[in-house]
Amino acid sequence: MKKITIAIDGFSSCGKSTMAKDLAKKIGYIYIDSGAMYRAVTLYCIQNGLFDGENLNLAELEKAIHSIKVNFRLNEETLLPEVYLNDKNVEKEIRTMEVAAKVSQVSAIGFVRKEMVYLQQQMGAEKGIVMDGRDIGTVVFPKAELKIFVTADPLVRAQRRLDELRTKNDTKTTFDEVLENIRQRDYIDQNRDESPLKQADDALVLDNSELTKEQQMQWLLDKFNFLTSQ
Ligand code: DC
Repeated sequence: MKKITIAIDGFSSCGKSTMAKDLAKKIGYIYIDSGAMYRAVTLYCIQNGLFDGENLNLAELEKAIHSIKVNFRLNEETLLPEVYLNDKNVEKEIRTMEVAAKVSQVSAIGFVRKEMVYLQQQMGAEKGIVMDGRDIGTVVFPKAELKIFVTADPLVRAQRRLDELRTKNDTKTTFDEVLENIRQRDYIDQNRDESPLKQADDALVLDNSELTKEQQMQWLLDKFNFLTSQ
């Protein structure tokens, strides 16, 4: 069967990653969470004192960017790729609210994006990949055979994110804090100068506010099967 590239873009907390992960597993493709890469660079900035309050030391980051190693390794138990920062597994550390609050700032920087896009294109050079993010169908893989743009009501997304935090034993963060974070990230993602989040002209829109996981998977599989059987 011919291998294709699948680009999944959309707003934060739309369930993109879960969807992309499940799809990749079902069809035997590699899954790459491009947001995890921007989160890893953000974690690097936090851990190395590049943030002074809200201010990020751009000169230091630019000096360091080529030596920041971000890659994925397969978890042997779950068989899912996990993100490594300079050879340390940071899959959990990149999901904190501290990283979430700063990642939009880091992912808006041109030289950071250039480096990450280069790495992402290398990972997808042989196709057979599902990658999710904000600019996958527009910048990283503009020729992807299947492009999906995912969206959902912000209130639904906030509740989903809160549920996820609760399962990770975060009992402090409130619904309003999560909603505010989502709104801020949507605004920054859509209005930044560098590769703003936007739907590719040839992307298919998937609003999953009221879809079950199963309905969503069926929708994706129908598109995939149609394209690969041609
Ligand atoms: O998908 P996520 O929430 O883990 O993404 C984290 C941040 O990284 C989010 O603010 C958007 C940004 N991002 C991006 O700019 N480009 C991508 N391809 C993926 C994520």
